[in-house]
Amino acid sequence: MLLEQAKFITTDNPRASVAPVFRKSFAPKGEIASAALTVTARGIYEARINGVRVGKFYFAPGWTSYKNRVQVQTYDITELLSENNDIDILLGRGWHYGNIQRGSFENICDPCIIASLDVTYADGTTESIVTDESWQYAKTGILYNDYYNGEIFDANQVYGDWKPVVITDGKKEALVPQQGEIVTQIEEVTAKTYFITPKGERIIDFGQEVTGYVCFRNVANIGGRIVIDHAEILDKDGNFYTENYRSAESRITYISDGDKTKWHHPVFSFQGFRYIRLTDYPTNEIYLGDFKAIVLHSDMKRTGRFECSDPMVNRLYENVIWGQRGNFLDVPTDCPQRDERLGWTGDAQVFCRTAAYNYDVNKFFHKWLCDLALDQTDDGKVAQIIPALWEPDGAFAWGDAATVCPWEIFRAYGDISILTQQYDSMKKWCDYVYNKGDGPDAWGGGGQYGDWLGLDAEEGSYRGATNDLLLGTAFLAYECDLVIKAAKALGKEDDVKAYSVRREEVAKAFCDTFIGEDGYLTSDTQTAYVVALHFDLAPDREKFAAHLAEKVHANGDRIQTGFIGTAYIMDALTDAGYADLAYTLLLQREFPSWLYCVRKGATTIWEHWDGLKPDGSVWSRDMNSFNHYAYGAVASWMYGTMCGIKPDEDKPGYENVKIHPIPDARLDYARAELDTKFGTVKSGWEKVDGGYQISVTIPAGATADITVGEKTEHVGAGEYKYLLNA
Ligand code: BGC
Repeated sequence: MLLEQAKFITTDNPRASVAPVFRKSFAPKGEIASAALTVTARGIYEARINGVRVGKFYFAPGWTSYKNRVQVQTYDITELLSENNDIDILLGRGWHYGNIQRGSFENICDPCIIASLDVTYADGTTESIVTDESWQYAKTGILYNDYYNGEIFDANQVYGDWKPVVITDGKKEALVPQQGEIVTQIEEVTAKTYFITPKGERIIDFGQEVTGYVCFRNVANIGGRIVIDHAEILDKDGNFYTENYRSAESRITYISDGDKTKWHHPVFSFQGFRYIRLTDYPTNEIYLGDFKAIVLHSDMKRTGRFECSDPMVNRLYENVIWGQRGNFLDVPTDCPQRDERLGWTGDAQVFCRTAAYNYDVNKFFHKWLCDLALDQTDDGKVAQIIPALWEPDGAFAWGDAATVCPWEIFRAYGDISILTQQYDSMKKWCDYVYNKGDGPDAWGGGGQYGDWLGLDAEEGSYRGATNDLLLGTAFLAYECDLVIKAAKALGKEDDVKAYSVRREEVAKAFCDTFIGEDGYLTSDTQTAYVVALHFDLAPDREKFAAHLAEKVHANGDRIQTGFIGTAYIMDALTDAGYADLAYTLLLQREFPSWLYCVRKGATTIWEHWDGLKPDGSVWSRDMNSFNHYAYGAVASWMYGTMCGIKPDEDKPGYENVKIHPIPDARLDYARAELDTKFGTVKSGWEKVDGGYQISVTIPAGATADITVGEKTEHVGAGEYKYLLNA
């Protein structure tokens, strides 16, 4: 068992709003060969030795299904120890007992920490200092901390008035080794401009929406305050706009000790923002150099790059990257700013393929999917958010993270362990949906989101017009497909057979139930045709594709889809022979479209197509995040179709690459690169006289099927050039 000798320790008022520090002083007995600190918390912690931060993991121990598991971290601290040492561990609210947990962890246990400092001396002897009754605690200057509401820090508060700790039960059986990536400080963004709004507010613009926190220099005299608020946008009059943060106050307060050489940032809070307001600031002499935005996210390695001749499309692509950076903070979140920041499964599911092009997210999803499986009910229901904060309802397209994400991760990295880990969960979800029955009420009631935020929604509703039962059934067919693929990869022939039979049954039910006598779907929406085509449920593909194209034309060559339809419309059109129409959607600049948001100054992906309406007003205060990656799923089409880089599902992880770029005359060039375990795959095209010059690079150890026009050739590593006639 991890941390076997150590005890969980807390304070005599564990839920007080001031963050405590736990301390043990330690003098080594001799020369140290090596020393490690193993630690975790119910809450989030920061360990410091003699005032120096231990490690680079922020918001450790991360967010897992806390009732089932809490990750434990081990740090090499050999270099931090000297003759006399203060081992300090600060404890914050974080996901365990901050407002984000909505009361759901209250019954697990009180916030607490547990640690062991293990020293090996040069003479080979060892010593362990574990958390126990001999530790003490004191108050820190962090008077209040919460992800949503921000932090209050009093720099005058020095540790003192030490008290004995209280031993508590933090549930040792839940401790597991660190599985995910660590969250860390990735980059500093400089402050770009300072201005005063019509209302007289003092604003700093970082020029980019980020997730993290502001780091600023103290300019206040002793006892003076600096109060900073955060926002994503300015309203149509140019004033600071925070209504879309809903109840999340996102306010940082610093009470100065008068030391103007000090820089400060929150310890246990983060915000999603582009602008800050100096709500309380002791001077009107503002220096941009006194502020920087620190970007924090999971420490994923960047793997994909894309560029084309249209600067607006390039900005859209950058927005997708920033969307991922802003929302892959230990778990894949819906948004980083308002009072959610939760692991919404539907969002993660539709974005997973794109995420796996942009960054190496293999480890990230191993961890999150493990929690998904732990939070799944015995009968297979998947929670809408992972880690779950309430009883799972089981919603189609959201619960499908259980089947889609493992498959996408396997497809991208060829690492069978994700399927081994998740296979039971995949099957359980598919079985749950199947056993739910297909009565008209099967998907009715609460807990369903439909084609979320589709623009064909009825006035006042968030749910697009597509029939729920149709969508739920289409997803069931897709789930069967994915279980079949996983079963094949794992060599489970019986399951391949069983789920193939089910797949046929579901496909038949889909046609019988949702196709009218005229051969068209009874739910006549873009999204209905998209899922029928994309999940291979259209008995007459040509007819369905032509109808979808007509519907797009009838809508002014614009999209009307929500979370579900948007994720697949580009592939559905392309695979049905309408790549040119997909390009039209991509290049569309009028509302609603991806480039409309870019035109309106987006630096991340918006939650709603008209987050900011053409007249500059907002569509709603409630569901209006400006950093919601879901619609960024379009980037997988940029890599996979425009530039034509896809993995071969039979040889996943780019062992064999499917290269099939589809150029379009409205652009001069497009190119993408993808770092795979074999090296960098490159593919792109450029307009030349009479057509397009296609250039491809396949790294050593990989092979490729390169399709140019109608011709496909199988090749090994090398550089290839082709001419595609226009
Ligand atoms: C979230 C979404 C999520 C949805 C469920 C919202 O509040 O921000 O992204 O998927 O609820 O429909």
